[in-house]
Amino acid sequence: MAKTIFDSLPDMSKARDRVKKPELIFDDVLVSPRLASYGKGRKFIIKTFGCQANVRDEEILSGYLEKAGMVRTDNENEAGMVIINTCAVRENAEDKVYGEIGNYKKRAKEDPSFSLAICGCMMQEEGVAEKLIKSYPYISVIFGTHNIHKILELLDWHLKTNKTIVSILSFAGDIIENLPSDRVDKHQAFVNITYGCDKFCTYCIVPYTRGRERSRPLDVILKECKELVDAGYAQITLLGQNVNSYGKDFKDGTSFATCLEAVAKLGIPRLRFMTSHPWDFSDEMLDVIARYPNIMKCIHLPVQSGSSEVLKLMGRRYSREQYLDLVKRIKTKIPGVALTTDIIVGFPNETAEQFEDTMTLCEEVRYDSAFTFIYSPRKGTPAAKMVDNVDDKTKHERFDRLLKIIEETTNEASAKLVGQIVPVLVSGPSKKNPEILSGYTEGSKLVNFKGPAYLEGEIVDLKIVENHCHYVVGELLEDPLLIKARSLKKALNKEKAVAEFLSLEKQIEEDEELISLRKEIQSAQKKMTASMNGDDSGYIKAKEAYLSLKKRYEEHPLVKNHEALHDEVEAILLEVKEALK
Ligand code: 5AD
Ligand code: SF4
Repeated sequence: MAKTIFDSLPDMSKARDRVKKPELIFDDVLVSPRLASYGKGRKFIIKTFGCQANVRDEEILSGYLEKAGMVRTDNENEAGMVIINTCAVRENAEDKVYGEIGNYKKRAKEDPSFSLAICGCMMQEEGVAEKLIKSYPYISVIFGTHNIHKILELLDWHLKTNKTIVSILSFAGDIIENLPSDRVDKHQAFVNITYGCDKFCTYCIVPYTRGRERSRPLDVILKECKELVDAGYAQITLLGQNVNSYGKDFKDGTSFATCLEAVAKLGIPRLRFMTSHPWDFSDEMLDVIARYPNIMKCIHLPVQSGSSEVLKLMGRRYSREQYLDLVKRIKTKIPGVALTTDIIVGFPNETAEQFEDTMTLCEEVRYDSAFTFIYSPRKGTPAAKMVDNVDDKTKHERFDRLLKIIEETTNEASAKLVGQIVPVLVSGPSKKNPEILSGYTEGSKLVNFKGPAYLEGEIVDLKIVENHCHYVVGELLEDPLLIKARSLKKALNKEKAVAEFLSLEKQIEEDEELISLRKEIQSAQKKMTASMNGDDSGYIKAKEAYLSLKKRYEEHPLVKNHEALHDEVEAILLEVKEALK
């Protein structure tokens, strides 16, 4: 009997003719009794490779598993379920995945209840799933990027049949909303604004693995961002393979500038976006970025090559001159902007001269940092069919030379920070030394500094004192306790109950009727005390007058509402006190 159920397999040839308008589906999470009993208390790990889109998928997968009663763990040995979330952008990322899957052979043999699921971009490539089930028959479920919301159904199917379930869809995918999610980071969050990519750069597999470009409705994005702001997040990064294209598919004038501005207005302390294709970077976008102080002045603008000829072969839709012109426009409108990029070395038949064009472009732009890659042929993409006359040694030599110039400009950008006081969002303690905290400047430069762990998630002012090229060292300017106290005060003011309590307190103080009632109560109290030594009837009368005034005061709607909030606010304050310990 076959050990695998093939529900569906990918077909990369379908990638280009996806013309169907994506449907918006609101998904409900259903957990079968079988899955609930399997999942209850089961620990799980998700290993993610690749880009931020995959990280966000991890959070959603994690949200689904938690709905089935499972619990996230960091401890490999106690995990009863593992998901490997793969990347297909370059071959070396794929090689790592095969190694990872192989590591679970022993575990799967020892524990029949252990589940191993493989998903992500690599599964969207033709032939990969078949290869996997041959070499690793202990895999429970294989699925792709378009059906992560089916994880529980697929796992249940596997539990029912005890077979490997393969379900990989090839169509562009609808937009699924209502996805559960367990955010990995409690201070900074990624929000998808578009899925997929329509650019079809000739070297890139993403349009085939993530489907055609589709934008999420603006109201859905704003709702998600508002929830993050209310939950106290310090940073949102809007995600898309090409955020600039946002809204074009609505054909109603909505653009990325509209979306960026609307999110900035929600008041998130730091707003970033990734990635921008240089082809459709509008002036309107630049104006919005320049206008809002909470939009970080940091733009990731992949150039890929400095040669117009290579750019043409890559299908990038801009020339070297157009790119440099855009850089000039950006630098003029946003002085001090941090520019970062992606560069591919050794595209098929890249000449020495064409490579020099990349070098001179980097010298001119002077990037704050850059991700550099050696071209990796991806089966199914047009570039993979090109005959290549550049040998590996030459490619590596060019790569090393490129790294040098990038190091030089990275170092230059870091050196500029020394002596400056800059706001830094603290991401947490360094893994190597818990007394050292790490964080990022507005321009995304990594900063290490000495400070207590409770500063995690705060934006603190640091004086930059040392440059180490890829990171800088900073010093706190203020007592960290003061910083924390101020931020707690701000958070408290934001808590609805506390804000209302404080506002009522102010109104009570200023209300004419209550001011005069307070005066009357005071004098009634004095009269009552004075009459204590006189006859009983005088005292009783004075006491009655006092009590009736007090009753009137307590029954005033402002005072009553204030009193009603008292317990709630006290509970919040107790929590704060605990946190401060
Ligand atoms: N080979 C090397 N690098 C690639 N990238 C995309 N496809 C390939 C490939 N086939 C790089 C690009 C892109 C980044 C995410 O990965 O520079 O911007
Ligand atoms: Fe790939 Fe080009 Fe789309 Fe970026 S814009 S994901 S490089 S096809």
